[in-house]
Amino acid sequence: FCHKLVLGIETSCDDTAAAVVDEAGHVLGEAMHSQTEVHLKTGGIVPPVAQQLHRENIQRIVEETLSASRVSPQDLSAIATTIKPGLALSLGVGLSFSLQLVNRFKRPFIPIHHMEAHALTIRLTNEVEFPFLVLLISGGHCLLALVRGVSDFLLLGKSLDIAPGDMLDKVARRLSLIKHPEYSTMSGGKAIEHLAKQGNRFHFTINPPMQNAKNCDFSFTGLQHVINKLITRKEKEEGIEEGQILSSAADIAAVVQHTTARHLAMRTYRAILFCKQKDLLPPANAVLVVSGGVASNLYIRRALEIVADATQCTLLCPPPRLCTDNGVMIAWNGIERLRAGLGILHDVEDIRYEPK
Ligand code: KG4
Ligand code: ZN
Repeated sequence: FCHKLVLGIETSCDDTAAAVVDEAGHVLGEAMHSQTEVHLKTGGIVPPVAQQLHRENIQRIVEETLSASRVSPQDLSAIATTIKPGLALSLGVGLSFSLQLVNRFKRPFIPIHHMEAHALTIRLTNEVEFPFLVLLISGGHCLLALVRGVSDFLLLGKSLDIAPGDMLDKVARRLSLIKHPEYSTMSGGKAIEHLAKQGNRFHFTINPPMQNAKNCDFSFTGLQHVINKLITRKEKEEGIEEGQILSSAADIAAVVQHTTARHLAMRTYRAILFCKQKDLLPPANAVLVVSGGVASNLYIRRALEIVADATQCTLLCPPPRLCTDNGVMIAWNGIERLRAGLGILHDVEDIRYEPK
């Protein structure tokens, strides 16, 4: 029987999510409201709109989570909530709602760093000991970190501009894949993965970014510009207007996916070598965790598997539903922090939060 129960609340971006998780990692209940459909129409997230949608849904999502878990707020060991990083207006909704609960039911409060939660998720599904390496790749995140403990991270690299998922989404939009019935309901990254299967990456040669940079950082805007120029050239050659689908679209999808995979693999390879050289990771059987929406791309995963094999690492990915933003990872991070006795706030009566 598990005594520790944590309610996790996540509103850092465009998902209103909550979950109750116990110490053994069982998910007692969870609920989520996604705003993707609304933001697709505006071609991106408009922060005040996201804030309003979080406000409209948070109470229902938390109530659904608690009733699915058959847990009343009094039974909770703590309430854990994402406080950064993210959209300030969105974060504010989750935080002020959580603090109301905390004050009303006199529960401890655990502020959660969204990236820490992503990185620790693998310990809910697999037996993974510290230290391990994590590569987080999504529409909003791109970082490589050594995870030495629950709140002990060494940042090894990050994107100097945009995240890979953001770049793939922009390329998919530029290729007008949204107009293609087969791809219109998919995220840009997923549409590119599917289309790339029919393409030939050897039709174009593009060098991966930052090949000579002596660090583990990433960059994707350069690649995006090269691809955009290629698309413009092809539109002229094929004599079509911007907004129509190129006959070479599949080849372009294949080369952008391949170059992205190579870039991610090369930087990760550097990070692993660096960690081993400094004795930060064991020489054999180190764990490389890859998470985030882009981690569901099987071509990219294969490239990272090759890196893992070459460095005697084990590649692990959380299941897709835990790779993207969710409430479970926040609740689990709360459990991890409870167990480690880290960052638990008891005097929450003193916490004042003025919502914007
Ligand atoms: O983690 P996520 O759901 O949300 C955040 O960005 O935080 O990731 C979404 C991103 C989008 O940019 C999407 O295009 C990308 O992940 N993505 C993919 C695939 N599925 C989703 N990228 C490449 N291949 C996929 N199969
Ligand atoms: Zn995230």
